[in-house]
Amino acid sequence: MNASPLSPAQTQDGTPTVLYGGVTNRRVTVRDLAKAKQHGERWAMLTAYDALTAGVFDEADIPVLLVGDSAGNCHLGYETTVPVTMDQMVMLSAAVVRGTKRALIVADLPFGSYQESPAQALHNAARLLKEAGVGAVKLEGGERSARAIELLVEAGIPVMAHIGLTPQSVHAFGGYPVQGRGDEAAHQLLRDAKAVQQAGAFAVVLEAVPAELAAQVTEQLAIPTVGIGAGVNCDAQVLVWTDFAGMTAGRVPKFVKQYANLRAVLGDAAREFAAEVGAGTFPAPEHTFK
Ligand code: KIV
Repeated sequence: MNASPLSPAQTQDGTPTVLYGGVTNRRVTVRDLAKAKQHGERWAMLTAYDALTAGVFDEADIPVLLVGDSAGNCHLGYETTVPVTMDQMVMLSAAVVRGTKRALIVADLPFGSYQESPAQALHNAARLLKEAGVGAVKLEGGERSARAIELLVEAGIPVMAHIGLTPQSVHAFGGYPVQGRGDEAAHQLLRDAKAVQQAGAFAVVLEAVPAELAAQVTEQLAIPTVGIGAGVNCDAQVLVWTDFAGMTAGRVPKFVKQYANLRAVLGDAAREFAAEVGAGTFPAPEHTFK
């Protein structure tokens, strides 16, 4: 595999990196991620909700793809993640698995699919592994989700935890406020992080927390932290793909960097197509059967 100048597959001295350069003929595993933390190697995660987009990110050496329940607002047209169902997550996750060869695919357990009991969490996580073929699941909550995480891990299901701003609790939060501000909230975030690690999670997403607190959590945990709006000192960073690629309409959160402007590119292409159809210049002879 050739490493382009922008490829994360090699370190500056040319040796392969643990995740991007070391794994070529199989999927990334949670053991690779543990090794990356030991080597101090940072990695990127993107969301994906369909086979084609996931394939692009896989070819771009993104080692972990998240079939987030952000599919609710970023793919399925809901206002929040709350309405997303297990059946929808299974369908989207299966597509992402089919579209990829190397990335570890992590699927979200949607709202209402794990809070009832650890047994409910196990039932639904098993569906994502058996029916969609994902390699790991993610669920929201720290101390409150520890028993569910423990049961899944005992059953052989790798679990990524998610603490800080947990979007499934949007109605309880009254929006999407930054979490972990103030002494008591910061201590709770640290307790949550330690509880999910203790329960066996292989990584933890820290969403919308002050950078200094995220750095502290990252230093105190043996498992990788995956930041989104949590500053630069996390072990990994995740962005929602429609935000990072400039597909999202309107405002995006402060923590988003837009690496492309796909909404403008696609809109311009659609307008040009419609204009050419209107003018009778498409299809041209080269697009026409004789
Ligand atoms: O659903 C999602 O996309 C997520 C990320 C924001 C981490 O949970």
